[in-house]
Amino acid sequence: MAHQIAVIGGDGIGQEVTSEALKVMGAAGVELDTTEFDLGGARYLRDGEILSDETLDRLRGFDAILLGAVGTPGVPPGVIERGLLLKMRFELDLYINQRPFTGTAPGHSEPHDFVVIRENTEGPYVGEGGFLRKGTAHEVATQGSVNTRMGVERCVRYAFELASERDRKHLTLVHKTNVLTFAGNLWERAFDAVAAEFPAIETAYNHVDAPCIYFVQDPHRYDVVVTDNLFGDILTDLGGAVSGGIGLASSANLNPARTGPSMFEPVHGSAPDIAGQNKANPTAAILSAALMLDFLGESDTADRIRGACAQPVTGSTTEVGDTIAGRVRN
Ligand code: IPM
Ligand code: MN
Repeated sequence: MAHQIAVIGGDGIGQEVTSEALKVMGAAGVELDTTEFDLGGARYLRDGEILSDETLDRLRGFDAILLGAVGTPGVPPGVIERGLLLKMRFELDLYINQRPFTGTAPGHSEPHDFVVIRENTEGPYVGEGGFLRKGTAHEVATQGSVNTRMGVERCVRYAFELASERDRKHLTLVHKTNVLTFAGNLWERAFDAVAAEFPAIETAYNHVDAPCIYFVQDPHRYDVVVTDNLFGDILTDLGGAVSGGIGLASSANLNPARTGPSMFEPVHGSAPDIAGQNKANPTAAILSAALMLDFLGESDTADRIRGACAQPVTGSTTEVGDTIAGRVRN
């Protein structure tokens, strides 16, 4: 049976790279029934729709959502991010953001292979806080971090389960428990409690500033990393930078409880400066599609696509897509 996929190409290079991801899945023989959704900054500028509740309800009926990138110059910061991307993460309860990193970091000779599990529905991203006396000399702005025991624990448990399936069986908690003594303490206690259920998993803890060194100097120490929403956002850009660049970085926004569709998107943005020039590297979008296939139970095909992306490819967006499609076809 064909998988029902909602496709949001979005803005900038989003459409171009998503087309290549669909091309590669087609070449790999995956049966997809796709429905395009015209959403993003360009749509917003045209008629004001960001993501209506009606559209969101339609999205709930799909098996998965494949997203290119959203964001257009001319739309104030936060409008599309909060109104579309974060709305999907929160409303569809996509509580895991899984970002795999393989590659050989600059200055190293051996490849690394680690995965960052980023909590995706809490932390500073919930938008807690506000202004007082806005625009005056006595202005106050607060922005809180919301951490629930349930939200942290389900994220940590997912990371332990993932570590159990991997060869090294190692999990590192990343936080800032020496300064964020409330949130950090909740994370630490939740982590320790779940660790007791997984005696086969070796654990470690890093304050978040340390992996900013280790990702670069010693990436081999990591297998699975679990962290909060904002730390995970920042660290995964660094993960991309040491793993061949952001043009290769893929991500899965997962609802592991499967109460609705999960969403798959490259880590990179819409790159409006190179949009429409057939220049963007579609590999991150193609690898995000592979993560989608994993989640849809087609891991063999996903592995084939990852294998096809592993050898270097150069050329235009469509040439890279054609080359990878050719490799998976054979
Ligand atoms: C990401 C992005 C988003 C985030 C932005 C666009 C809201 O940077 O997916 O990493 O901060 O989560
Ligand atoms: Mn980011």
